[in-house]
Amino acid sequence: MDKFLIRGGKPLGGTVAISGAKNASLALMPAALLAPGRYRFGNTPLLRDVVTMSRLLESMGLRITHDDHTLSVDSTTVSSHEAPYEHVKKMRASVYVLGPLVSRFGEARVSLPGGCAWGPRPVNLHIEGIRKLGADIQLEAGYIVARAKRLHGARILFDVSSVGATGNVMMAAVLANGTTLIENAAQEPEIVQLSEFLVRMGARIQGVGTGRIEIEGVDELHPADIATIPDRIETGTFLVAAALTGTKGKGVRLERCTPNHVGSIIVKLEDAGATIRTGPDWIEIEAPEQIRPVNATTAIYPGFPTDMQAQWIALMARAHGTSVITDTIYFDRFMHVPELVRLGANITVKENIATVMGVDRLVGAKVMSTDLRASASLILAGLVAEGTTEVLRVYHLDRGYEHVETKLQALGADIRREPGEEF
Ligand code: EPZ
Repeated sequence: MDKFLIRGGKPLGGTVAISGAKNASLALMPAALLAPGRYRFGNTPLLRDVVTMSRLLESMGLRITHDDHTLSVDSTTVSSHEAPYEHVKKMRASVYVLGPLVSRFGEARVSLPGGCAWGPRPVNLHIEGIRKLGADIQLEAGYIVARAKRLHGARILFDVSSVGATGNVMMAAVLANGTTLIENAAQEPEIVQLSEFLVRMGARIQGVGTGRIEIEGVDELHPADIATIPDRIETGTFLVAAALTGTKGKGVRLERCTPNHVGSIIVKLEDAGATIRTGPDWIEIEAPEQIRPVNATTAIYPGFPTDMQAQWIALMARAHGTSVITDTIYFDRFMHVPELVRLGANITVKENIATVMGVDRLVGAKVMSTDLRASASLILAGLVAEGTTEVLRVYHLDRGYEHVETKLQALGADIRREPGEEF
C-alpha cells in the first residue's frame, strides 16, 4: 500500500487543471445499461473508483475501453444482471446498477453495500423508491433481489435528500409505464448532469435541477455521448490547499473547473480571508495573510458539501481563533480528526460537531488514511506541517483524486509517492 512523503512549508503557486467529477462518472456509466449500443463519456477522471465501476460493468458483459480521458462503453451485450459482493464491497456507488437493471431487464441481484470507514451507509431510500415503481424487492443473504414485469409511474417523496437514491430511482423511472414524480429530489450537479444525459438518451424529464422531478416513461432509449462536468470537490480541495499554504502575492489558478458549482466554498474561503477571482471556467485564489476562523455546517447542495468537511477542518486547524464545524449529513465522518491531532491540531469532537482551536504550527508525523476525504485533509495538513509527514494507505486518495501528487508537485509542493509496507 503506497504512502506519500510530504515535506511541509512550501507555498503553492501556479496553475492546476481540474479533472472530471468522480460522482458524475459513477452515475453516468451505469446509465449505459438502459439502452444497447456505444456510449462515449468525455473528461472521465482516471480514478480507482472509475476502474471499479468499469470492472463491475464488464462482469455484466459490457465492453469498456479508455482513450486518454474518453471512456467508451459498449452495452450491446449484457450477460448478467448481478452486482456481486466482491465489487460492491469496494464501492457503494455500485448500487447505481440496480435501477437500470430492473428498469430494462425486469430483474436485478445487487449486493447490499457494506458500511464504509465512517459508519453505516443505508440504501433504504433506493429500495423503497424502486418498490413504489412496482418492483418486488426482497433481501436475501446480503443481496437485494428485485423483479418486475414492467415498472409503472408513481409519486415518490424522499424523507432525506439522497444523491444516490435520486439517481437510482430516476434511472428506474425513465422506462416505466406512466409518469413518476420525485419530491425532495437531490439537486447536486452530478445528478443534474445524469438527468441531462438521460434526456439526451431520449428520456422525458421535467424539473431538472430542482427538488421536484417529473419523468414521463418511454418505451425505449438510445445511446448518447457526454462530457463529464469538472469535479467540484477536487476544486474545493485545491482551493483549500492554496489558502492553507500560499503566501501573499503568490496565487494559484484552477482551470477547467465550474465556479458556479463551488459557490459555498468560495464564500467560506473569502470569509477566511482569501482573495478570489473567477471566470467562466477558472478560479484564482490568493492566500490570506492570516487565516480567519470560520464556522461551517454541511448541507445538501448548494450548501457547504459534507465532502469538504475534512478539508475545511484542516484549514481551520491553522486559523487564528476557534471555529465550529458541524456535519448534518454524516454524523460520524470524523476519522481524520485523531490523525490531524497527531500533527499537532487542537480539535475536539462531540457527536457531529468538531471544535477546532487554531494552532500556530503543525509538526509532521506518520498518519493513516481511513477514507477518501479524510486522506485529502491529511495531505493538506502535511503540506503546511513542519518537517516530514508520512500519509499511509493513499489508495483511499487514489479513489477520488487523479494524480494528486503530480498536480501538487507542479504547484511547488514537496510530495512524493513511495511503495508502502504491506500491512
Ligand atoms: C453521494 O453519496 C456521494 N457519492 C458522496 O461522496 C457524498 O458524500 C454524498 O452523496 C452526500 O453528498 C457518490 O455520489 C458516489 P446520499 P450517497 O444518498 O449517494 C442518507 C465522496 O467523498 N441515506 O446523498 O451515498 C445517508 O446516510 C463520497 O465522493 C439514507 O438514509 O449519499 C446520508 O446521511 C462520499 N438512506 C444522506 O442520506 C438511503 O437510502 C445523504 O446520502 C440513502 C441515503
